[in-house]
Amino acid sequence: MSQSDYIVIRAEEDGVHVIGLTRGTDTKFHHSEKLDSGEIMIAQFTEHTSAMKIRGKAEIHTAYGVVNSEAKK
Ligand code: TRP
Repeated sequence: MSQSDYIVIRAEEDGVHVIGLTRGTDTKFHHSEKLDSGEIMIAQFTEHTSAMKIRGKAEIHTAYGVVNSEAKK
């Protein structure tokens, strides 16, 4: 499988979770990474990962632009 673009996630609060969801017929969490404020994660969609869920306040840089997730109120 050809590799996809990287996405960059920059946490804007402590305890942001980046959750990888599996590719294939069932969609399950397979990995969870916790970031504290200012930490970044650089990741790709792969053979194993078809979706990501970001929980917490973060800035997400993708090939489509920059989006911000919000902290839960
Ligand atoms: N081993 C995982 C995979 O290749 C690692 C991974 C890639 C990942 N992208 C991710 C984990 C995004 C969490 C979020 O699928």
